[in-house]
Amino acid sequence: SFRWVRPLQLTLALIKPEAVAHPVISEAVHQKILENNFLILRRKELHWRSTDSQRFYCEHTGRFFYQRLVEFMSSGPMQAYILAHEDAIQLWRNVMGPTKVFRARIVAPGTVRGDLGLTDTRNTTHGSDSVESAHREITFFFPEFNTSNWYEKQEPRYR
Ligand code: PPS
Repeated sequence: SFRWVRPLQLTLALIKPEAVAHPVISEAVHQKILENNFLILRRKELHWRSTDSQRFYCEHTGRFFYQRLVEFMSSGPMQAYILAHEDAIQLWRNVMGPTKVFRARIVAPGTVRGDLGLTDTRNTTHGSDSVESAHREITFFFPEFNTSNWYEKQEPRYR
């Protein structure tokens, strides 16, 4: 049957330490979140220990950039958001632009990383890449937030 409104999806977004260190940059990213009509369900600032960083990026253990990534992500405070939108995961990834900054500059000007990214490590933001990683990452940052409970409560409104 026809639906006027499609269900909301959740994603985890991070504003990385180099951006939080410069409030003009983190404020610009926050504006992008608002301009794209994401609902902000939770937001918090936190400073990782390197063990948190290792745990979060365990899938990248052994990659040449792993050590750099782990050290950088625990180098200063960052901001974590739970965002809700129709197709939130893909939408946030489109708003961020490609991981690699030189690619982002050339093929995706106007995106967060295309405009504000400095290097492939200091690339302003992170976003979940699948429904499973969104669930894992939301729980990682916001253990008290029950995603299945949220979906159960939201869905009936959109049926
Ligand atoms: S990959 O190659 O598809 O697995 O990479 P991706 O998942 O897009 O990004 C992996 C995270 O590692 C950070 N990082 C780098 N990626 C690629 N190359 C280099 N040199 C590099 N250095 C760091 C990158 O910013 C991704 O971080 P997140 O927080 O997931 O965006």
